[in-house]
Amino acid sequence: MRVGILTSGGDCQGLNAAIRAVGKALIEKYEEDITILGIRDGYRGLIEGDYKEMDPKDFSGILTLGGTILGTSRQPFKEMRLSSGDQPDKIECMKKNYKRMKLDCVVILGGNGTHKTANLLSQEGLNVITLPKTIDNDLWNTEMTFGFSSAVETATTVIDAIHSTATSHGRVFIIELMGHKVGWLTLHAGVAGGADAILLPEIPYDIDSICSMLKLRKRSGKQFSILAVAEGALSKEEAQLSKKELKAKRAKMTEPSLSYRLAKEIGAKTGDEVRVTIPGHFQRGGSPCPYDRVLSTRFGTAAARLIQEGRFGYMVALQNQKIVPVPLSEVAGKLKAVPIDCELIQSARDIGISFGD
Ligand code: F6P
Repeated sequence: MRVGILTSGGDCQGLNAAIRAVGKALIEKYEEDITILGIRDGYRGLIEGDYKEMDPKDFSGILTLGGTILGTSRQPFKEMRLSSGDQPDKIECMKKNYKRMKLDCVVILGGNGTHKTANLLSQEGLNVITLPKTIDNDLWNTEMTFGFSSAVETATTVIDAIHSTATSHGRVFIIELMGHKVGWLTLHAGVAGGADAILLPEIPYDIDSICSMLKLRKRSGKQFSILAVAEGALSKEEAQLSKKELKAKRAKMTEPSLSYRLAKEIGAKTGDEVRVTIPGHFQRGGSPCPYDRVLSTRFGTAAARLIQEGRFGYMVALQNQKIVPVPLSEVAGKLKAVPIDCELIQSARDIGISFGD
């Protein structure tokens, strides 16, 4: 049995824990009869045939390690079928290398973009199994992706720390969190960190509504306010624009990000002193939290079971707290956005958190 493994797209906590689980479970099952090939830097390694045979000891001591021992890269799905002159079709290259490496299966750890390519590879006849990773938690058909809980923990720590300095100075703080298309991370960290407003891509905001909330807090004696803002949040006016128009508008923005524009607008309308904090990739780095270590272990071992059963073309997913295989075709290209009427948003509203709408 020869199994390739690769990690693709933006990294997150728990990738190494998942690699470890796949590797250790396969070695337990197949003993001497398994060769595991670590493919370097995601799809790039499969496209270029860049890999190394992994030793059992490679899977030890990595449970708590952040990042990915295999390296990763972003290989846009829309470029996979492009071939011009000296640049051959990347899917064909991957198929050739899969054959050259004599693989029986390739285990792919990735997020949304990665799953589109994984599905295509599966349709092209490769034996593929995937594991859902991303701090965005936006993969369809799984309640949870690994990396998300760790990122929520980190983002919440940032909000907690900002709370104390915001209180001392009586300032408004905007904390910009990752999530261009979906707001799961901002919603969870915002609730966990006790933010006063949470702005998500799913709920367009009205600047006047935010300013009214800030003024009301001041009038009731609360001198500081915390806004947890997803990097992809957008105003009600922007929500009317087409994707192209919004892109063009944001490209003309003089501020480095939405939060700085919001800070300027809020400052001008309320006279408040507004500060911005952006933890950025800090949210993706470091050791996975215990929940993610467990989830990665469950996903990785489930992948090894599927390989033993000869079942391919699946992503392992969490549904009703159980690990189940879901067909790649039912995952690829679908985004799991925050339902605007979900229970957590209702709970947040019930305790007076504003969504700026
Ligand atoms: O997809 C994960 C993610 O961290 C998003 O939340 C974020 O918008 C994006 O990746 C950042 O991408 P990059 O690491 O390429 O800057």
